[in-house]
Amino acid sequence: MLIKRAGRFTWSDVTDPRCLLSRRALLAGAAAVALAPGQGRAATPRGAPLGAARNAALSLAEPPTKLEHATTYNNFYEFGVDKDDPARLAGSLRTRPWSVRVEGLVRTPRTFDIEEVLRLFPLEERVYALRCVEAWSMVIPWIGFPLASLLKRVEPTGSARFVEFTTLLDPKQFPGQRPGFFGSSLDWPYVEGLRLDEALHPLTLVTVGMYGQVLPNQNGAPIRVVVPWKYGFKSAKSIVRIRLVREQPATSWAKANPREYGFYSNVNPAVSHPRWSQATERRIGEFRRRPTLPFNGYGDQVASLYAGMDLRRHY
Ligand code: MTE
Repeated sequence: MLIKRAGRFTWSDVTDPRCLLSRRALLAGAAAVALAPGQGRAATPRGAPLGAARNAALSLAEPPTKLEHATTYNNFYEFGVDKDDPARLAGSLRTRPWSVRVEGLVRTPRTFDIEEVLRLFPLEERVYALRCVEAWSMVIPWIGFPLASLLKRVEPTGSARFVEFTTLLDPKQFPGQRPGFFGSSLDWPYVEGLRLDEALHPLTLVTVGMYGQVLPNQNGAPIRVVVPWKYGFKSAKSIVRIRLVREQPATSWAKANPREYGFYSNVNPAVSHPRWSQATERRIGEFRRRPTLPFNGYGDQVASLYAGMDLRRHY
């Protein structure tokens, strides 16, 4: 990933999102608010409320990162490479209508409309750690449901071994996908992938909300995945296609720079990025760096997926 410059946090403490929601409900009803492009410093998004009971067993006890930070310090290269580009420019993304095609090596391929997704799958809140490969981290209360529930609906066949996720391709809505747009050398659309057992792991979450609200555009609205034991770039945003395949998918960052970004990309303090150490991380909102935990702290739950594998080679 390009590292442009250190984050600039000048915001005041954020109001509790639930207070924002009730104020917003009073003012303007429940429709999601997209930010107008070119507004300058982006305001904290105030999306429609999205209720979901917390899954305490799968949630960190740590306090979440401020909503304001989680929504203005983003990587979403379709909007540009600076951390504040997504919050400034994501108003151009239209998240309705939206559908996700689930296909490939499955018995019952299907196109899910986003409203159908919201009806079919019971939502829960999970507070997860997010660790970016750039050595910063956050704690985010996501709202979603296990990817396994979605995949079971389409019945993967015995020959499916990997799952490929594809982000929307639309240069009209994503300025970063326009030819010659400064900064990114990625091939569009953004593609990520998981091994099938990783995709079916109970921690792997299809995500449609955060902080009790619908997902803000800059965080990957209307639907993304979150894989908490891997570097953040494995968690593709604004997904339009999920494909079950036999061969390991060619993923965007691994294609762009295979020496720096592997297919597995499990959080691993013992394997440095060629240009920086992964031993410690900067938790956004904290002053001191903290040690990075193997598998981002989820080792008890996921290390067995990699038994017998050399994780230095399969970085
Ligand atoms: N998905 C797409 N389509 N495009 C991107 O640039 N960036 C990734 C990931 N998903 C990215 C993406 C990276 S590097 C990170 S760290 C996380 O999104 C950041 O998610 P967040 O902005 O919600 O914190």
